[in-house]
Amino acid sequence: MYSRVLGTGSALPKRIVTNGEFAAMLARDGIETSDEWIRTRTGIESRHFADEAEGETTSSLAVAAARRALEAANVETSEIDLIIVATTTPDMVFPSVACRVQAALGARGCAAFDVQAVCAGFIYALNAADAMLRAGPYRAAIVIGAEVMSRVLDMKDRSTCVLFGDGAGAVVLKASSDPGILAARMYADGDYGEKVLSLTASLNHGVISGDPYIRMDGRQVFRLAVEGLVGSAREVADLACVHTEDVALFVPHQANLRIMTMVAAKLGIPEERMVRTVAEHGNTSAASVPLALDRAVRAGMVKPGELVLLQGVGAGMAWGSALIRW
Ligand code: ACO
Repeated sequence: MYSRVLGTGSALPKRIVTNGEFAAMLARDGIETSDEWIRTRTGIESRHFADEAEGETTSSLAVAAARRALEAANVETSEIDLIIVATTTPDMVFPSVACRVQAALGARGCAAFDVQAVCAGFIYALNAADAMLRAGPYRAAIVIGAEVMSRVLDMKDRSTCVLFGDGAGAVVLKASSDPGILAARMYADGDYGEKVLSLTASLNHGVISGDPYIRMDGRQVFRLAVEGLVGSAREVADLACVHTEDVALFVPHQANLRIMTMVAAKLGIPEERMVRTVAEHGNTSAASVPLALDRAVRAGMVKPGELVLLQGVGAGMAWGSALIRW
């Protein structure tokens, strides 16, 4: 038994903020950055920021992406018996985003929970859904990555605030006797923990303690990301008895174009097979992989029977890969 992706969907907030606008915004606080710096170091040109006053929240973006994925998959909401949402920016501590999505979709009664593995979240959620569908009794799942990262950006810290964006992506998975997800692996190394990438805020007896913004040692994360992504891709390829060179569509976590091209080169995957949405979306954390996948699928970049490699990496450190026969 396998699980197969039957459809994909995504949603982005209306507001687009270009690097130029960002630079002008930071300049008002005397902070220097430029389109040139951001573009050459990261490949990012613009990002979408949610307007919560307009109702753009993590769950509203997740619901919109899920509806599009259900439509593309031609699956009725009544068939869904599992909803998993990967997010690190839930609307609230609880109820989970997954339960809010379930209520909005009218999928009452099915299992629904959130997964928190930051930028690796979608790979973790997909791996969990795949295992649950293969083991049963679950038959059809919606797996979503959704984030409003703009809520946790320190707009006075130029080394992080220019990197992230908001959005959501979703896939509909069904149990199937035909091959779909061939292999998926998740990894973590908590020893790096708060030292390299963190948001330490917590709710404590009515008081928020810790730092409410993302902090990152970019260079260290860069090095760990390349190492983890290359290793995990090789491992899923070995498990599926295929070669990474045969991957037809490479969907890496969209954090930094330099990391993506470096990983593709080490895996022997030609760059034209790599999906790039980082320029327009920035790093949307758990949403980045399903957003990029949906873009590629709708652009006809993958045909049935081809190999698709998905990868995520982020705070924890946590990372992982999934290899799919499309
Ligand atoms: N504009 C202008 N200058 C800047 C900016 C900016 N926006 N940000 C930093 N700088 C400056 C720094 O202050 C530093 O100046 P100094 O040399 O005078 O001290 C200089 O640029 C170089 O800084 P570095 O951090 O060394 O730059 P680097 O080339 O490493 O690029 C970056 C930084 C883009 C963050 C890179 O390290 C990176 O992408 N790392 C990986 C991030 C990542 O993949 N995250 C994924 C996980 S995210 C998650 O899980 C939430």
